[in-house]
Order: sequence, then C-alpha cells, then structure tokens
Amino acid sequence: MAHLLDVCAGHVYLYTPLQTSVHLHHYLSFCCPRKKLFIMKIINKKIAAKKSSVAWLQRQAHDPYVARAQKDGYRARAAYKLVEINEKFRFLKNGQVVVDLGAAPGSWSQYVAREFPKSRVIAMDLLEIKPIPGVEFYMGDFTTDEALEWLNQKCGVVDVVLSDMAPNTTGHQKTDHLRQMVLLEYAWDFARCALKPGGTFVAKSFTGGTTDELLRDIKKHFQSVHHIKPPASRKDSVEMFIVGLGFKND
Ligand SMILES: C[S@@+](CC[C@H](N)C(=O)[O-])C[C@H]1O[C@@H](n2cnc3c(N)ncnc32)[C@H](O)[C@@H]1O
Repeated sequence: MAHLLDVCAGHVYLYTPLQTSVHLHHYLSFCCPRKKLFIMKIINKKIAAKKSSVAWLQRQAHDPYVARAQKDGYRARAAYKLVEINEKFRFLKNGQVVVDLGAAPGSWSQYVAREFPKSRVIAMDLLEIKPIPGVEFYMGDFTTDEALEWLNQKCGVVDVVLSDMAPNTTGHQKTDHLRQMVLLEYAWDFARCALKPGGTFVAKSFTGGTTDELLRDIKKHFQSVHHIKPPASRKDSVEMFIVGLGFKND
C-alpha cells in the first residue's frame, strides 16, 4: 500500500513501502477501480486542504491587523477585537478581576494585563500558552468540573467575564454552530454565578446564533445587551460578540 506524500504544483506524489516517491498516474495504472476511487478521494481532500491553507497564508500576508499585532507585540490579531469592543463600551478598568475563557494564544489577556496592570487576569484554555506577566493561567477544558472548581477557587466574584472560546470547526455549519452555542451557554452559566452587580459579559457568538431563550435570559440579567461585530472580525466570518453591561443579580 502506498501512502500519500505531497501535492506539488498540480502533481501528486506517493510514498511506496520502500520509501521511494512515485507519480500518481504511474501508481494508479497498477490499481483496481475500487482502490483508484479510494485514493482519489484522499487526494481530493488533501488538495482542498492545501488550497485553503494557501488562501489563509495569502490573507494573513495582506491583513493590516496581522501587521499591527506584530508591531504591537500581540500574539494574535484577535487582540484588536477586544480593543475595539472596549473602545466602544469602555468596561475595562484598573483594579478589576477579569476572567478570559478560551485565552490561547493569549492576545486578549495580553491586552488586559498590559493596559490595566492593576487588574487581575485569570485565563483558561484547552491549549497551553506561553506565560504572560500578570496573568494566572489554567490549562484545561472549561466545560469540566475540575476547571470550574479551579476558577471558583481562584477568583471569587468577578468584574468582567470574557469568552472568545471557539470549537474546532468541522466544516459542517450546523455542527459548528451548535458547538459554539454550547460554549456560549457554559460561559453564560459561569458568568451568571460569578459576576458582581454592575459586571460585564463579552462572549463570542455568531450571526443568528443565540436561541431566543438564551438571549432572553441574558437580557434579563443586564441593564443593556448589545451585539457587535468589531471591524477586526473578518467580514467573511459569521462570528460576532454579545456584550452584556451592568449585571443585575436578581
Ligand atoms: C479564537 S481562540 C481565542 C483567541 C484568544 N482570545 C486570543 O486573543 O489569543 C479560541 C480558543 O478557544 C479555546 N477553547 C475551545 N473550547 C474550549 C474549552 N472547552 N475550554 C477551554 N478553551 C476552549 C480553543 O482552544 C482556542 O484556543
């Protein structure tokens, strides 16, 4: 059985068990129709993945937010989503307790720790992040009891809950939306128990994503609730953010 090696300039090469590379057409000429079909399916997937990674690289190279993040020392262009949300609503202040859910690689935490150095930043992600001065970090799944326990022990009452958590996308839109919704609900459950009166909740959602019931519940607990797609959020993404200001604990 040969293994797929690479798609290069429109040509596909395979590794044989002896580790030599063979051109696809040559290899297929020895295969039965069923095996040909199987190999072509794998190759089409690989070509699609390669095209999308090339598109991603091209987009990164021409994105002014990427250049700005490099210049400002942020780990991701995502930093500017929070910068822009905060410029609009002005909820971040020095001396607050701020929880950052889905923090990796860390640009939101960097921004809060850098601009509001007297605040306490408590961050969590499934992925490890390089330490950020002034940020306490837990690596784990926010939806588990252990992670919640850690958070509850760490922070007590909280001024701001941020959630930029996003699931790994499957490419199946309904599944991806559903997974995003679940993370939003978890973040809201936590925020409802942890926020101080007057506190703020900022969470990633998507256009048309929140159920009426969830939105009603969030609206009931804040003086005002806003939907925002900051300019730094890519136009071709369905991502947007829910911002709840002035938490009411009743
Ligand atoms: C868009 S990224 C966050 C970017 C981050 N705000 C920044 O500025 O660097 C989304 C993150 O959510 C995290 N995530 C997804 N599901 C999670 C979960 N159940 N618990 C913790 N983190 C999760 C992912 O690992 C990913 O790092």
